[in-house]
Amino acid sequence: MRLYASPSLIALSAAPLVVHSLQLPFVGIDIQLPAVLDTHLNNIKSQIAQIQVPSFINKIIDPTGSSPLLSLHRDLVSIPSVSGNEEQVARFLETYLQSKGFKVELIPVQSPEYPKKRYNVFAYPEGGSRSAPILLTSHIDTVPPFIPFKDGLRTVYGRGSCDAKASVASQIIAAEELLAQKHITEDTVSLLFVVGEETNGDGMRHMNTLDLKWDAVVFGEPTELKLAVGHKGLAMLEIEAKGRASHSGYPNLGVNANSHIINALYKLDNLKLPSSDLLGNTTLNIGIMSGGVAANVIPAYASAEVAIRIGAEHFTDVKVLVEDALKGIEGVEATWKHPHYDPVFCDHDLEGFETIALSYGTDIPNLNGNHKKYLYGPGSILVAHGDNEKIDKSDLYEAVKGYKRIVKGILNAKAVVVAEKPKPKPEAVAPSVAPIVAEPVVPVVEAEVEKVATPEAPVNKDAKKNEEEEKVEYVTILPIDAV
Ligand SMILES: *[C@@H]1O[C@H](CO)[C@@H](O)[C@H](O)[C@H]1NC(C)=O
Repeated sequence: MRLYASPSLIALSAAPLVVHSLQLPFVGIDIQLPAVLDTHLNNIKSQIAQIQVPSFINKIIDPTGSSPLLSLHRDLVSIPSVSGNEEQVARFLETYLQSKGFKVELIPVQSPEYPKKRYNVFAYPEGGSRSAPILLTSHIDTVPPFIPFKDGLRTVYGRGSCDAKASVASQIIAAEELLAQKHITEDTVSLLFVVGEETNGDGMRHMNTLDLKWDAVVFGEPTELKLAVGHKGLAMLEIEAKGRASHSGYPNLGVNANSHIINALYKLDNLKLPSSDLLGNTTLNIGIMSGGVAANVIPAYASAEVAIRIGAEHFTDVKVLVEDALKGIEGVEATWKHPHYDPVFCDHDLEGFETIALSYGTDIPNLNGNHKKYLYGPGSILVAHGDNEKIDKSDLYEAVKGYKRIVKGILNAKAVVVAEKPKPKPEAVAPSVAPIVAEPVVPVVEAEVEKVATPEAPVNKDAKKNEEEEKVEYVTILPIDAV
């Protein structure tokens, strides 16, 4: 029996057994019961489950299970899906989305590195179309190792809980709610959840072979609920130096490869690289250095690996400077490794969002096309790949609202054209999605960032009302986290 001495336990101490049996929202507390008692309590629990209770009681007894958003997120996080092993989570999503009235295509993705069956999940509402103008997309693979789902009072833990199953779950619920509330028609939004984002981007790149295109694509990654202005590019450089081995006492007989590579790295480390107002400084990291075999041997070979996060406009702006810097240095050879990607500038022309510049990579450059690009999602990249990956439940709810506002904002901006179809019931169509005149897709915005410090600011006059309607109830009983 392991108990944490936290104030919540003092509150619980009167009835810890009941608490365990009912799965009150204290499940983050690790209370181990003897097996006999546990079985007994499970019996009681299953009897209670047969009693019809008012929904507010259900919300107290099982806050996760009674929330469509939290239970979808829990189910996603509970399924291991480290890159290369995404079949099970894809099949789960297929079943789930079909049950919610979506038409689902499992799109096989083949890669020599990953021999198992893998599928991108592409879905659109029944009666809608494959070519809906707005795509909500994220990824279903995670980095290793798998970490099981764990429910806390306010926070959920587990691999993928943040990156990116929080985005997947909130995008799906946002689409369901937009449809149910008739903010969009069936042919407005499609969903795509890809494999392989954490490794080589093969899932998203595969979409380029399918002759699909969108007017606007909303990418779901942890952005702390802010609209990303973009993310830095990445280039990796491998540097080798060749010398000639000899006795360290007679350096004039050898050529020291370490000395060469030190010269090169010193120059790179002090290189002034271009930045941009939107993405900030280009940064250079000397990640790996190796060279030599023993202290008393002149090293014949040395190597280093360097990663450059590009805040400039283009990779080439940095490439020229790096190559120039290394030109005069004797005995070194530098090779750009593949793949590299250019900085990504995202659209962020929607009112009511704070903005953020990011320094991590996404699938955005892997999807070809002239679509507008939005990048938004719950959670922080700072916990995304760690062993304490987590997401706040309130952030999941905020993200649902955020994705809905983004979709409505895109529609209000008239940047997309929803295909015109005869509508049997025109009164059921929300005015904001009436077929609108085509305007050229707005090119990437590179204007000065305008910080809008009012995340609640309404998208339009009706938005205030909508926000009221969208208020989600979720239970927070104790003022402290149980974990
Ligand atoms: C960017 O670089 C400049 C000059 O090297 C430095 O003063 C500044 O602090 C850097 N900005 C950040 C955010 O690191």
